[in-house]
Amino acid sequence: MKTLSIANQKGGCGKTTTAINLSSALASLGKKILIIDLDPQSHASFGLGISDQVVDKTVYNVLTDNSEKRRMIDDCIRNVSQNLDIVPSNILLSTSEQELKDKEDAVSRLHQALSNNIVSYDYAVIDCPPSLGFLTFNALRAAALVIVPIDMSAFSLMGVGKLLGMLELIKIKINHAPRVNALATIFDKRTKYSQEMLDDIKSFFKQEMLETVIRMNVTLKRAASKGVSVIQFDKTTNGARDYLALAKEILKIDGSLEFEAAMAAVAQETSALSAASTETRFAINAPNAKEVYLVGDFNHWKINDDSRLLRHDDGRWEKALVLSPGKYRYKFVVDGEWLLDSANPEKEQNPFGTFDSIMKF
Ligand SMILES: Nc1ncnc2c1ncn2[C@@H]1O[C@H](COP(=O)(O)OP(=O)(O)OP(=O)(O)O)[C@@H](O)[C@H]1O
Ligand SMILES: [Mg+2]
Repeated sequence: MKTLSIANQKGGCGKTTTAINLSSALASLGKKILIIDLDPQSHASFGLGISDQVVDKTVYNVLTDNSEKRRMIDDCIRNVSQNLDIVPSNILLSTSEQELKDKEDAVSRLHQALSNNIVSYDYAVIDCPPSLGFLTFNALRAAALVIVPIDMSAFSLMGVGKLLGMLELIKIKINHAPRVNALATIFDKRTKYSQEMLDDIKSFFKQEMLETVIRMNVTLKRAASKGVSVIQFDKTTNGARDYLALAKEILKIDGSLEFEAAMAAVAQETSALSAASTETRFAINAPNAKEVYLVGDFNHWKINDDSRLLRHDDGRWEKALVLSPGKYRYKFVVDGEWLLDSANPEKEQNPFGTFDSIMKF
């Protein structure tokens, strides 16, 4: 079983719509799917016709330490339709973080539960809440592929950097590096703005962008309000067509999910070395910081051991990079906070609406 997590802390970008309809499309292609509703708002459960009135066991029971409430994941599964099951959610899930915050294995609970589940599925599809807390961390930890829906509206790229930063943290701390793909959603081809946004997002994510674009389609809303997927509601609509195309694209990349991250890391190191020519020093004064990283175009904005700076006794942190001549965007990450280089006045706006420092030589 492979786990696909649908994550973006921005609200209303199409996470739940994607979780429901991608799952249903994969199920219609003969794959056995388990949706995990990891959002206390329970929209995926509602959107598949399961009201919280009838829900007794939820993903809360899978995560909790309370021995009276704790259940195996298999005990919490409900059938939705052919090939499609769900572990529903309800508002109680919002108490999990508080309950488990001091537990060392808290962020791996869902991963463990999915690894131990008995019923076999081709895919688990996790619908994340619009936040970067403990629940989303659990989903990223469990994922082989993280799909980041990005709606074609203002501010939609803001915050994506933080999600990518969280993935880097997971890579460093627990050596887990899922594939990450962005998905353009709620695309309205009639507006110039949608097209411009799509171009911006493509140029940021490059080959990490899924080819399928989910068009704006009101039937997606209508189907959700009736408690069914768009595939069941009306297969002839653009919404159904787009999510079937997405399902086929996911099946195509499926084979590479486990190995891709490792290969990418190796390729990145090799290409950085072969282009090398000039040593450039980057430094920041941060005497109270615990860890400082340098991220930028030159290391694909990855926070890892290679991008860590060394601390001098005077509180300055420094890193030397061997770079070929050109223009580079970069930032320092000081104890998780992304900062401009205050010693360098050159900066430029990025697609997230914030600024990056610029190094040219
Ligand atoms: N392609 C689309 N065309 C038209 N409407 C859409 C489309 N995708 C999503 N919507 C609508 O946009 C709204 C937000 O979508 P959705 O609930 O999937 O987002 P979300 O990211 O899960 O939100 P939240 O962050 O609150 O969980 C919903 O009303 C949904 O029906
Ligand atoms: Mg949602």
